[in-house]
Amino acid sequence: MTAAPALPTVPAYTLVSLPGRLPLLGHAPRLLSDPCGFLAALPARGDLVRIGLGPHTATVVCHPELTRRILADDRTFDKGGPLVDRGRELFGDSLAICGHDKHRRQRRLIQPAFQPARLPAFATVISEEIGRLTGSWRDGAAIDVRAEMRGFTSQVAITAMFAAAMSQAERRQALDDLSTLLTGTYKRMFMPAFLARLPTTGNRRYETVRTRLRLRLGQLMADYRAAGIDHGDVLSKLLSYTEDGTPRLTDDEIVDQILILFTGGSDTTANALSWAAYLVARHPGVEARLHAEADAVLAGRVAVLGDLDSLPYTRQVVTEVLRLYPPVSMVTRTVTADTELGGHRLRAGSIVLFSPGSVHRHPALFPEPDRFDPGRWAGQPQPPLPRGAFVPFGDGPRKCIGDTIGMTMATLALASIAARWRLVVPADADVRPVLRTFLAPRGVRATLKARSA
Ligand code: HEM
Repeated sequence: MTAAPALPTVPAYTLVSLPGRLPLLGHAPRLLSDPCGFLAALPARGDLVRIGLGPHTATVVCHPELTRRILADDRTFDKGGPLVDRGRELFGDSLAICGHDKHRRQRRLIQPAFQPARLPAFATVISEEIGRLTGSWRDGAAIDVRAEMRGFTSQVAITAMFAAAMSQAERRQALDDLSTLLTGTYKRMFMPAFLARLPTTGNRRYETVRTRLRLRLGQLMADYRAAGIDHGDVLSKLLSYTEDGTPRLTDDEIVDQILILFTGGSDTTANALSWAAYLVARHPGVEARLHAEADAVLAGRVAVLGDLDSLPYTRQVVTEVLRLYPPVSMVTRTVTADTELGGHRLRAGSIVLFSPGSVHRHPALFPEPDRFDPGRWAGQPQPPLPRGAFVPFGDGPRKCIGDTIGMTMATLALASIAARWRLVVPADADVRPVLRTFLAPRGVRATLKARSA
């Protein structure tokens, strides 16, 4: 990797307030209209930057060392703040949402479903589903890239989690319901709470779907228990018992976990893949290298787990996508006790933002930070990147439970697509980043060109 100018060894951490804050809205209009530009500009302002997040004040952490500290200490910098609070209404106190007091138990109980030994089973599903998707594409067809990627990752998530025992019709219904829920969830995260409760058609549909899905999952759990079979999926693991014979989780907890795992597991990777497709189409040099690697390793077939080590350039592309457009670009934390960060006092109850969208574009860490350059990940970074500098999956006790699956899914899918297809994005395409819960590219449409044609 290209050497980056070193950060000062004894950093004088700076704290500034960002000007231009609007009453009630804070900096939300600027953040929402240009999320990448807004977050990327903050490290030049200070190591800690106070912004207005709607009516709230939040401190954005822009320095890797301070990022490392808040992620390592989840007791003081606990899950909380406006985004997480709305998430709790929808996903209960599930793994990604719950506070420190409940987290250790949940993580211990759910971790077995994500053990490295289960990776081959996940990878088999990934290869099957990407094979199905790329096999269904037709030369010359126009596709909505994000919809296609979302379809693929949702199929993987649903199969890996609980579809082992479902009929095709049930599976389609569950996928439709999950997709409606996913879209509705994002709208509601940014809605004032009272609007989400009004009896509008949209809200009623959302509630109907939510109830139907919860009932169906409840029924599915009863069926799994009655059959007493380990289907080898995540639901089977969540239903299993601890050594002393007690259930790991209650039924409601399991449903919350399934919903959060589906959301966290499918849309993050779908957005990463959509950004990858767009950036590769825009960078012919990168596209040529990606295709050359796919041709040499796959010769037109679908990638499988055993190919991963032979796809280093594809992995570099995925890594650079996660640097430049991290699907989780910012997450709120709440300070649980008066503390200090970087020599500055933070009061209990204040909000801190963990922001990959900012540290990943720190010019002292990544030369030409706005440039898409997968080559920067060739070999070991020199000097090594400090911990906290590259955190697309977070770090510390709350680090992503599906990081390996996410990387595997993105790498195998990108290589499999490159082996058979070129995605052509029109030069005048108006593609923009939009911040929902995750950072998504809006407006990526592509024409498919079969590579063998
Ligand atoms: C490219 C793909 C992915 C990205 C970029 C990503 C990113 C992240 C990040 C940044 C966090 C930490 C959030 C925080 O500290 O507040 C996280 C947590 C989490 N992720 Fe992922 N994720 C990805 C894929 C997945 C997959 C495939 C799954 C499930 C199969 C998953 C499930 C979760 C869960 C359950 C948590 C909460 C962990 C905890 O609090 O203990 N993610 N993810």
